[in-house]
Amino acid sequence: MLAPMSTSTEPPLYLRVAERLEHLIESGSLRAGDRIPSVRQFGRQQGVSVPTVMQAYTLLESRRMIEARPKSGFYVTARLAKALQEPSQPPHQAATATLETFAATFVGLSEMNDPTLVPFGPAVPSDALLPLDKLVKTSAAVARRSPTTGFRYDPAPGCPALRKELSRRSIDWGCAFEPDEFLVTLGTSEALHLALMAVTKPGDAVLVESPSYYGTLNLLHALKLRAIPVPANAGGLDLEAVKDAVKRYAVAAMLVIPNFSNPLGSFMSEESRRRLLDIADLHDIPILEDDIYGDLPHAGPRPPCLKALDRHDRVLLCGSYSKTLSPGLRVGYLVGGQHQPRLIELKNAFNLGGPALPAMTVAEFLRSGGYDRHLRKLREAYRLQICRAREKVAEVFPEGTRVSNPAGGLVLWLELPEQVDAMRVYQEARAAGVSFAPGPMFSPQGFFRNCLRLSCGHPWTPRIEQGLATLGGIVRRHAGA
Ligand SMILES: Cc1ncc(COP(=O)(O)O)c(C=O)c1O
Repeated sequence: MLAPMSTSTEPPLYLRVAERLEHLIESGSLRAGDRIPSVRQFGRQQGVSVPTVMQAYTLLESRRMIEARPKSGFYVTARLAKALQEPSQPPHQAATATLETFAATFVGLSEMNDPTLVPFGPAVPSDALLPLDKLVKTSAAVARRSPTTGFRYDPAPGCPALRKELSRRSIDWGCAFEPDEFLVTLGTSEALHLALMAVTKPGDAVLVESPSYYGTLNLLHALKLRAIPVPANAGGLDLEAVKDAVKRYAVAAMLVIPNFSNPLGSFMSEESRRRLLDIADLHDIPILEDDIYGDLPHAGPRPPCLKALDRHDRVLLCGSYSKTLSPGLRVGYLVGGQHQPRLIELKNAFNLGGPALPAMTVAEFLRSGGYDRHLRKLREAYRLQICRAREKVAEVFPEGTRVSNPAGGLVLWLELPEQVDAMRVYQEARAAGVSFAPGPMFSPQGFFRNCLRLSCGHPWTPRIEQGLATLGGIVRRHAGA
């Protein structure tokens, strides 16, 4: 506790309060992205008045040590990261790409659960951030309560209890769907698979964001489809390039991630969404919306889906609980609109429906009220992890490194100095026990040679921090720094 001012030579109380906080920041007790105590709380702790603390915070804010966030409080500024630029994404013309060469650069799935690697590779949440105890209990309770239903076939459209909960939640997405409008799927992957089967045929071309999530490219490859990668940036697809592509090619479908895309973390404004829908309407092209990260803004309310603006039943909405509750439960959904009867047929043809117990477990979790509380914690954890990782990148990567600054989700996209080859860095980093996803995995044309994606799904620990320092050191060497 700070003693009140005793002599006229001592600095004023608010300055001493500010110095104390400054010391906590400089010594690393409070780190980039940390929320600092509220004015009231800090005042109480230090035995000083609220106006004194407010004066101290204002001073630290003007020194750029802390920053205020609307309705959220004060946070320690990520000072090094402030100087980072976002990836430049040099525009490239959209062109169709077959996916044969893509498969060759595919690395990653094998290291998904490898505990020996520092996990910047797969974009999965750390077990430590998932409500595993509660899921175990919920699953056991559901199985006990419904031993027959839980172990039967669950034919499409799938678990009624889950579709009811999805219907309720869809109000937050700006949609208000009926339970009957949902099809329960095995994650977003199966939702995208079914949607692609419904609107394309082998040989067709699908417009995707570039850089593109490699799972999507893999899926297109498996379905014998071609990709048309179109440049994207922090605001999503370059719409002029989309216009150009739909004029030059027969685009059978567009696949977009409007809310916190993977890997760029981009977010499409409402205006861009409307323009994209206009283009799709004009050329009569279905849109597959991948909304897997929609529940994961780092601040503020959950953003609406693109589907919420869809007046002509053009968007097939796909999502899941893989990034929020559990990737292994494989519970996702699809809202297919006019395609729903066909999608149900396809789903039943492939696997006679899905497993009932995981769907019932997620339904119960959503119903019993734990999900929103869990989400609040998870969003805060992803925000902090992203913030820390950006700050560390600013410290340990070579000059000229650019980094995305996503407002949601759990991945960062890095553009390294031109001379760095991310595949070579990858080999060395693997040998040093660090994983990440090299840029060419996100391009069927092998673009993004000097880029990489860092997953920030794990809480910040000395091991994570050291892993990033090791990676930064390797990149610095390759950059000749
Ligand atoms: C953009 C995107 N879509 C889909 C998936 C696959 O998700 P699911 O586990 O729901 O199948 C992922 C997983 O990383 C993803 O990042």
